[in-house]
Amino acid sequence: MKSSLFVLLTALLFASSSVLAADAAAGKAKSVICAACHGPSGVSVNPIWPNLAGQKEQYLAKQLKDFRAGTRKDPLMSAQAAALSDADIANLAAYFSSK
Ligand code: HEC
Repeated sequence: MKSSLFVLLTALLFASSSVLAADAAAGKAKSVICAACHGPSGVSVNPIWPNLAGQKEQYLAKQLKDFRAGTRKDPLMSAQAAALSDADIANLAAYFSSK
């Protein structure tokens, strides 16, 4: 009885983590637009545009959600984040943090 509960919980854990897993390859595909300002691998060429390469994944995701929600505002960046889905944000954060 106990072991079947364990199997069930483990299966649920794997099922939910695969749904939440961010896909860096999909993030790379989506990052073409971002590259115009942040550089193809997340290193910006403009001194007032931030590098994203190697930044913490959760931080990147939070900033993108804040821009999307309007709690962080920037004339250039807010418009970029407005169209992103939660999956896009997770994938982009995974991609840039892996650079
Ligand atoms: C038109 C230029 C431009 C484009 C395109 C652009 N960004 Fe930005 N981004 C900026 C600027 C400028 C800032 C800094 C905003 C500020 O000063 O608050 C910024 C900030 C950010 C930040 C916060 C970084 C930090 O250190 O807090 C993230 C994350 C980010 N951009 C991700 C993206 C992603 C992902 C894309 C593509 C979907 C993208 N940006 C497209 C200009 C751009």
